[in-house]
Amino acid sequence: MHRVIISGIGVEIPEASITNEELVASFNAWVDAENPKRAGQGLEPLSKSDADFIVQASGVRKRHVIEREGILDHTRMAPRIAARADDDLSLEAEFGIASARKALAHAGVEPADVDLVICSASHHQRPYPAIAIEMQQSMGTRGAGFDMGLGCSSAAAGLHVAAGLVRAGVQKRVLVTTPEIITGHLNFRDRQTHFIFGDASASMVVEAIEEDEVRPGCFEVLDTRLWTQLSNNIRTNLGYLTRTAQEDPYMIELEGNMIKQVGNRVFKDVTVAGHRFIVDFLAEHGQTPDDIRRFWLHQANARMNAMILKLSFGHEVGHDRAPMVLERLGNTAGAGAVIALEENHADMKAGDYGLLCAFGAGYSIGGALLRMM
Ligand code: COA
Repeated sequence: MHRVIISGIGVEIPEASITNEELVASFNAWVDAENPKRAGQGLEPLSKSDADFIVQASGVRKRHVIEREGILDHTRMAPRIAARADDDLSLEAEFGIASARKALAHAGVEPADVDLVICSASHHQRPYPAIAIEMQQSMGTRGAGFDMGLGCSSAAAGLHVAAGLVRAGVQKRVLVTTPEIITGHLNFRDRQTHFIFGDASASMVVEAIEEDEVRPGCFEVLDTRLWTQLSNNIRTNLGYLTRTAQEDPYMIELEGNMIKQVGNRVFKDVTVAGHRFIVDFLAEHGQTPDDIRRFWLHQANARMNAMILKLSFGHEVGHDRAPMVLERLGNTAGAGAVIALEENHADMKAGDYGLLCAFGAGYSIGGALLRMM
């Protein structure tokens, strides 16, 4: 068995951003245009969205997005992303490569030193050829690449797979990339979910080290863990069979087939499962939350993280113990916990423990117990 480290972390955040106020103005303009039509059809009027509600309910103030004008155009309400030729780099691969190059530079390794690319994200732009193979070809990594996903636990799941392969000696150095272009699948006409997500890409380089080797500033991956339990409370029905249920299979009906969630059920279920996961996972290593210098949790809801931590510790803990990035980025799906890690580890000392823990659709929870070298 080999010792495993995260030798590099990279994050790419799109330049464009949307504040709650801008998003709500667009949503409400659409409601104003829809309601007279609905009244004519005898339908209930749609309710407006509210920027104050969004901050209080979720903690999100703004989000960065791949393309903002199409989202804010209330006659469209979706990002406008031009199709690319088959021979051109796809957007997801490009976004993945942007964070991957930073992770490789941080690790001080060349693409040719990587022998596996895992592109693990909530959504993939297409089923095949795998986005990871496109990244492999474009960057010049060796070996192979494949795509996988586990909702918002995608990066943690990718790390679980990568660490297992490296620990077993199957791969020497794995690039785990989580490019989340989640606005592409978000229903901006759904008041319950339109404010939640933002786009971001995060990558980690996972590699083996010698038994007695020390790499100062890197994290040793002591253990990883995954937990899943079926729930339809966060679900999308958009898939390759969607069209086959429709009268006209050549026109995809999106309404009802995009991301939907029962937010308050997810909140309760994942808070309970999340804190149990943390306490049990740490206990397996003879530790309690008090032994952990820093928690990098999934960035879905500030109140939810506060509750998970309170249940785990028995008291409230502050930003220094469990930093949040969602206020300015929104929920960036699988990328969120890795962004929290990338932005909040430079002050950690050798021997400090940290816990990366992501949770979301599935339900799924993924964790990694790390120790600063
Ligand atoms: N603007 C104004 N009011 C809104 C609104 C909006 N955009 N969206 C919902 N509301 C209203 C609801 O209609 C409801 O009104 P009612 O009480 O009159 O019925 C009220 O606000 C409360 O709705 P609820 O859904 O219970 O809100 P909440 O406090 O649970 O917050 C979430 C909603 C989505 C922010 C929260 O449940 C959450 O973050 N859940 C976890 C989601 C998650 O982790 N997902 C994982 C994805 S990886």
